[in-house]
Amino acid sequence: MSKKLKFQSPTGMHDILLEEQKYFQKIYEVCEDIANFYQFQKIETPILEETELFSRGIGFSTDIVGKQMFTLRTKGGDYLTLRPEFTASIVRAYIEHGMFNLPQPVKLWYFGPCFRYEHPQAGRFRQFWQFGFEVLGEESPVIDTQVIQIFYNILREIRLKKLIIEINSIGDNQCRPYYKKLLVSYFRSREMALCADCRRRLRENPLRILDCKEEKCQRIISQAPQMIDHLCESCHSHFKEVLEFLDEIGLPYHLNPYLVRGLDYYTKTVFEIYEESPEGRALGALAGGGRYDALTKLLGGKDTPGCGGAGGIERIINLMKTRQLRLKKEREPEIFLAQLGNLGKRKSLRLLEDFRKAKIQIAESFGRDSLKAQLARADKLGVKHTLILGQQEALEGTIIVRDMASGKQETIKIEKVVREMKRRI
Ligand code: HAM
Repeated sequence: MSKKLKFQSPTGMHDILLEEQKYFQKIYEVCEDIANFYQFQKIETPILEETELFSRGIGFSTDIVGKQMFTLRTKGGDYLTLRPEFTASIVRAYIEHGMFNLPQPVKLWYFGPCFRYEHPQAGRFRQFWQFGFEVLGEESPVIDTQVIQIFYNILREIRLKKLIIEINSIGDNQCRPYYKKLLVSYFRSREMALCADCRRRLRENPLRILDCKEEKCQRIISQAPQMIDHLCESCHSHFKEVLEFLDEIGLPYHLNPYLVRGLDYYTKTVFEIYEESPEGRALGALAGGGRYDALTKLLGGKDTPGCGGAGGIERIINLMKTRQLRLKKEREPEIFLAQLGNLGKRKSLRLLEDFRKAKIQIAESFGRDSLKAQLARADKLGVKHTLILGQQEALEGTIIVRDMASGKQETIKIEKVVREMKRRI
């Protein structure tokens, strides 16, 4: 006896079935509208990239690179990684295709799956979808504000409410090294009171201690020096302007001195957007991003400022469902086409095409032969009219139009039926 086979999708990776597709579609449409309005061009990049692109771009000591990458070795011996995020790929494409020769800034948007080897839990998957917006070649703080506004607008368009923007500045290569030193010396004197992860972070990536959620670390963090007090002149005025622009457009933000983000490429502004509710907080950020002025150079390109962000589609859908946000109803057919006999079926196939070309939604059940079963189906769909095309009608070039509410039937010429139904619905 052969063993019964039972396959399941891999841990943390899901099929996207009918119900879910509607939500994906909605988010895609909102992103596309916003992208068109703000003049972003769509970009697709390969799902696999050279591993080094991510390890350099995102940072060797980040959790994403250290623990979460799906990496494979090709038959040719190259190391490739399933993208854990898009920004490094977008910058690679910007450099590779000489986009610095285009009028700047270059504004790009994307929508697709990412992969991180995480411990699956609510709002955290191994394959998840992101949409994102990136602006390359412009350093003005107005861009930071506009990027934040784009994500806020998308979430609002989806009708999520009570959104809060958390924002911080983590400085640049001028001011951050000094701040890091201050931070290391502060934490080193309290090292024994930190959790094991933070003791490791102290050596590898001290800034990341700031967003540790462990209670014992939180107490120490709350007294730690803050980046905001140690920004250099240019980072300080840049951040001040970002906040002034946010005030100007009335977006709700909260200054969070502990927001550092999990990717190393950021400079100056970083942000995350949450839904301000216990469920929202438990899910984590709906979107996050910031400025990355040193990334393009780090990946071998010209010195080019950049700023962008990405939203997590599963997390957003999760909240849309919790909040019972209704989606636009699909166009439902108002007409059903029933057929009888071989000739009736053949003519019906052709007639269906005439309705499609006239953009009239019409349902059928060509696999069924009995009229009773077809009328039952029409009833179930709740259509207003059923067209019946039997052997005799097919021979005479006519068709029966049945009013489903009254049961009244009339016979009309088949060549007039599309026009007639257009009039009636
Ligand atoms: P990120 O914060 O790592 O940033 O991811 C962006 C969003 O993706 C998160 O806010 C979250 O909604 C979603 N997300 C992340 N990991 C998971 C997961 N395991 N399961 C479900 N959803 C997840 C980036 O990826 C940056 N590339 C954003 C950016 C663009 N910065 C500048 N430009």
